Amino acid sequence: MSSYLVTGGAGFIGSHLVMRLLHKGHSVRIVDNLVTGRHANLPELERVDFLEADLANAEIAQKAVQGMEFVLHQAAIPSVPRSVSDPVTSHRANVDATLNLLCAARDAKVARLIFAGSSSVYGDTPTLPKHESMPADPRSPYALQKFIGEQYSQLFTELYGLETTTIRYFNVFGPRQDPGSPYSGVISRFIKLLLAGEPPTIHGDGEQTRDFTYVDNVVDAVLAACSAPDAVGRVMNVAMGERTSLKQLVSMLSDIIGVAVEPIYGDPRGGDVRDSQADCALAQEVLNYQPRISFQEGLRRTVDWYRQSSVHS
Ligand code: UD1
Repeated sequence: MSSYLVTGGAGFIGSHLVMRLLHKGHSVRIVDNLVTGRHANLPELERVDFLEADLANAEIAQKAVQGMEFVLHQAAIPSVPRSVSDPVTSHRANVDATLNLLCAARDAKVARLIFAGSSSVYGDTPTLPKHESMPADPRSPYALQKFIGEQYSQLFTELYGLETTTIRYFNVFGPRQDPGSPYSGVISRFIKLLLAGEPPTIHGDGEQTRDFTYVDNVVDAVLAACSAPDAVGRVMNVAMGERTSLKQLVSMLSDIIGVAVEPIYGDPRGGDVRDSQADCALAQEVLNYQPRISFQEGLRRTVDWYRQSSVHS
């Protein structure tokens, strides 16, 4: 049994990590300020040590890491458009809190810290698929903040010997992703609307593509990164290695849900990138990563979950 701190553990991806760790018999502490996270995401809340607090406070970061072997840093204010409209708040959550946590993890001598990176750092460079050796080209405050976080993580490995790994997530989706805000991930929003028989709005022409990744695949990679010897100091893509346009997404979801609703087309969104697709060869080599759940299967599981949950009602 090992001890894990999951920052943002009451959020979407964090809660999936927490549940997997508990089922493997590990001891879990969560630190979450509940800005985007929710208690309801954690059905086994009584089995975790829950700290409701903000990592932008350095003392909280120090308290959170005490006695922990591994730190899975998922806490963030996600969403590209949200960062465009309020860069200061997202900077505080995505950069200030990350630096506090890195300092605290270094001082407490944790075994390894895994940072939740983002595909957004690649920006709009034309080459596909995106490979880790390509230069970053952040097109939004969120992308820049995630790039700073991964650079800080690598620097802490070089300067202080703190073992860190960044996993660059590509449009992760699955159960418990909150569909309730205009900043929510597109799959959660579209499922909610289609289940209600309402048309989703596509920003732009709908030909933009994403490498949508089911959350269980990401959990596999993050946990593998905690023990893989060659993962230290690395930044790795984790995705499906495929790309799907928004038009295709609407059509696939309509088939699964069994509705025929025409989408509405709106203006393109500021800070959006056009295409995104990962080269996952490095994660395959270093983490033995293979996506276990296909995109189709992930969509089916996610639709089932929203159908059964009360979130959409
Ligand atoms: C980006 C990152 C992703 C990160 C996420 C955090 C890229 C390629 N991906 O996702 O790694 O985890 O930020 O929030 O940068 N859209 C609609 N209608 C809607 C909602 C969205 O058309 O109602 C469109 C968006 O304009 C965009 C696409 O769907 O083109 C995906 O949007 P979203 O789910 O918000 O994720 P990204 O911004 O791509």
